[in-house]
Amino acid sequence: MQPNTPEAASRVAAALRQIYDRPQPPVPWRDSGNLPWDEPEFSQRMLREHLDQSHGAASRRTAEIRAQVQQMVTWLSLTPGQRLFDVTCGPGLYAAEFGRRGVAVTGVDFGPASIAYARAHCAGLPCEFHLGDVRQMDFAGLDADAAIYLYGQFTVLKPAEAADVLRRTHAALKPGGRLLLEVLDDDLFDKKNGAWWYTDQGGLWGDFPYLHLGERAWDPEQRAAVERFHILNLETGEMHVYGLSDQAYTVAQMTEMLHGAGFGQVETHPAWDDLALKDAQEWVVYVARR
Ligand SMILES: C[S@@+](CC[C@H](N)C(=O)[O-])C[C@H]1O[C@@H](n2cnc3c(N)ncnc32)[C@H](O)[C@@H]1O
Repeated sequence: MQPNTPEAASRVAAALRQIYDRPQPPVPWRDSGNLPWDEPEFSQRMLREHLDQSHGAASRRTAEIRAQVQQMVTWLSLTPGQRLFDVTCGPGLYAAEFGRRGVAVTGVDFGPASIAYARAHCAGLPCEFHLGDVRQMDFAGLDADAAIYLYGQFTVLKPAEAADVLRRTHAALKPGGRLLLEVLDDDLFDKKNGAWWYTDQGGLWGDFPYLHLGERAWDPEQRAAVERFHILNLETGEMHVYGLSDQAYTVAQMTEMLHGAGFGQVETHPAWDDLALKDAQEWVVYVARR
């Protein structure tokens, strides 16, 4: 694969230099925060990943979602007519399953393609969706019976933001309401440095031939990991840099944070109590009572 023009070739050279000059070691949240879920084109490409049944990277596969919903209905004692608040609801795949059981769902997410899909997918069900950033959300007075916050998005927030989002979620619950929060198990959290590369010509990073250079770094002081992805377009020489920081939490830290946000009793379910999920072992599920 040749860059198309001399300008493209010199952009490739500049991109390689930029990679060489990147901040080392990376600082969590300073050198990468979160994926651009809220950018319209990225969100559209991400939607394809959410719906792809060949992997469970963005959302789990349908059979696993159904098993989780059954488990969550039990843990949260949800009955038809009750209201569930789905924090970072994505394309509404969980909302649809709860909605079919008669549970009303209010979902919030800042991915525009996901919210548009959720509205269409849940048409006719008691579900409503809001496009918005959970760091600014205000659902105080929603009086939800329960809330869910799934698939690790909580730990991608800076710890101070995460604590604030817990307070905002607490305010959306009625007294006695429950929050179910899925957080990576600290014992299995990847605390090693690493790097990888591959080439492709389509998918999440763009529909053009590209070289993907990825790396992961563990910051032992902040107890956070940083991932950076350099995506080099091999035709134009343009480079896009994406990143993701992820905070590790022990059960004791998470429990203290939930108490700090106003929650009372906290139960833990390591590995989803052995539910048949491909990645169940990686997670601890917290159920906290307002
Ligand atoms: C891994 S996906 C999971 C989506 C959904 N919970 C599921 O499992 O199908 C993470 C979701 O979090 C959303 N998200 C991440 N940060 C957010 C923020 N600050 N505000 C709102 N949504 C956010 C993304 O747009 C994305 O839909």
